[in-house]
Amino acid sequence: MSQGLATVSYLGATILFILCLGGLSHPETSRRGNLYGIIGMTIAVLATVFGPSVGAAGYAWIIAAMVVGAGIGVYAARTVQMTQMPELVALMHSLVGLAAMLVGFANYIDPAASAQMSGAEKTIHEIEIYVGILIGAVTFSGSVIAFGKLSGKISGNPMLLPARHWINLAGLLVVIWFGREFINAHSLNEGMLPLVVMTAIALLFGIHMVMAIGGADMPVVVSMLNSYSGWAAAATGFMLSNDLLIVTGALVGSSGAILSYIMCAAMNRHFISVIAGGFGTTGGTPAAAGAQPAGEVVAVTAADTAELLREAKNVIIVPGYGMAVAQAQHTVYEITKLLREKGVNVRFGIHPVAGRMPGHMNVLLAEAKVPYDIVQEMDELNDDFPQTDVAMIIGANDIVNPGAQDDPNSPIAGMPVLEVWKAKTSIVMKRSMASGYAGVDNPLFYKENNRMLFGDAKKMLDEVLASLKS
Ligand code: TAP
Repeated sequence: MSQGLATVSYLGATILFILCLGGLSHPETSRRGNLYGIIGMTIAVLATVFGPSVGAAGYAWIIAAMVVGAGIGVYAARTVQMTQMPELVALMHSLVGLAAMLVGFANYIDPAASAQMSGAEKTIHEIEIYVGILIGAVTFSGSVIAFGKLSGKISGNPMLLPARHWINLAGLLVVIWFGREFINAHSLNEGMLPLVVMTAIALLFGIHMVMAIGGADMPVVVSMLNSYSGWAAAATGFMLSNDLLIVTGALVGSSGAILSYIMCAAMNRHFISVIAGGFGTTGGTPAAAGAQPAGEVVAVTAADTAELLREAKNVIIVPGYGMAVAQAQHTVYEITKLLREKGVNVRFGIHPVAGRMPGHMNVLLAEAKVPYDIVQEMDELNDDFPQTDVAMIIGANDIVNPGAQDDPNSPIAGMPVLEVWKAKTSIVMKRSMASGYAGVDNPLFYKENNRMLFGDAKKMLDEVLASLKS
């Protein structure tokens, strides 16, 4: 393939990636967006493999690597559960970081890469290598730790070392000093030591940074590492003089940064304080922090729930992580259809950090073919709860916790939540009194107008559906 054709292909792929991001911003256009992304990536891969920078001798290696990579990718995509998606994404980010690191070292060792360079050009190339490996190493180790935390292999508790900010600052100064040593090095051997020391520090920094972040802040960590992986790819693009990789990396890097900002706003957190760490606890057990809720827990049956729904005119369904675990979305939609046929106004209220990844609930509801016009964002319907007869909470917990508003000592204080307790009746569907991801007790369960329907969400909803039909 000629250089001209490769450039045009890269331009086409870039446009398709931008259209892809635009499409992904709304559920209705997300399928089309995905398709643009797939076509763009196919063009990008073909133009790179058959482009002028790859000789015929490299084809066998590339094809073998692609077969292995594609095999692992297809296997992972087919076997990974929807609830394990954030872990998979974290693992994928770690691979981008690893790739940036390896490309950086290979680029430095490769005599052909820097043979014709001298003066400012050589210095710029070395800075690209140094910064690329730095970002890649932080992304790699940080993502591996994020994977461990999200999959429960590492505790979600923040690990707070004494003087941790000073440790980070010292690490940064050492990295800058070794950067100078690296650029002033006269031979490959001389340059290798600072490069290896910096890589070790960057790997430790990635581990330290994510270990210090508590469970409740993990949504921001995932999107932040997404952003880092983009910058790591862009750095790789600079090292390899590949314009498409630079543009694509910048797109991923900046969209990840915007997503991190949105996540922070959704949780009322400052980005810097998230990165500085030390907030949130592990999930699954009632937390000691915050006030102990007062009141009694009233349990109801599926038949009682069906009765309440039958009598309602306005219903808001709030899905959370438990709906994903139970795979209850299809039954939820069956119930929705039935109620709508009876003239009940049913809507879905989606919290920006419901579930375990951005858009988690939207994906599940779209899969169940719930019409988009009844799926609304938290801000769109939060004022409507006082006029709502039944708020049905399906496997959600943190995102409907009134303690976020009432209890300044709560670890999730200040996080905007869906005000379900303002409805005439709220029904929480979950298996036990266990806390959610942030590990905080939920005063909602003890409110006078709240009812608890204990059990697996899918099983209980099947029973509610059967009662509604009878
Ligand atoms: P959570 O607060 O984690 O609560 C989910 C609840 O679902 C649990 O209390 C659990 O209670 C229940 N549950 C689990 N399996 C169930 C099943 N089979 N049937 C019925 N209930 C089941 O979830 P949420 O309200 O969606 O809030 C999300 C939380 O995750 C936030 O703290 C958020 O910060 C965090 N987070 C979000 C993301 C993103 S980007 N969305 C990423 C990482 C973390 P039982 O055990 O009693 O059933």
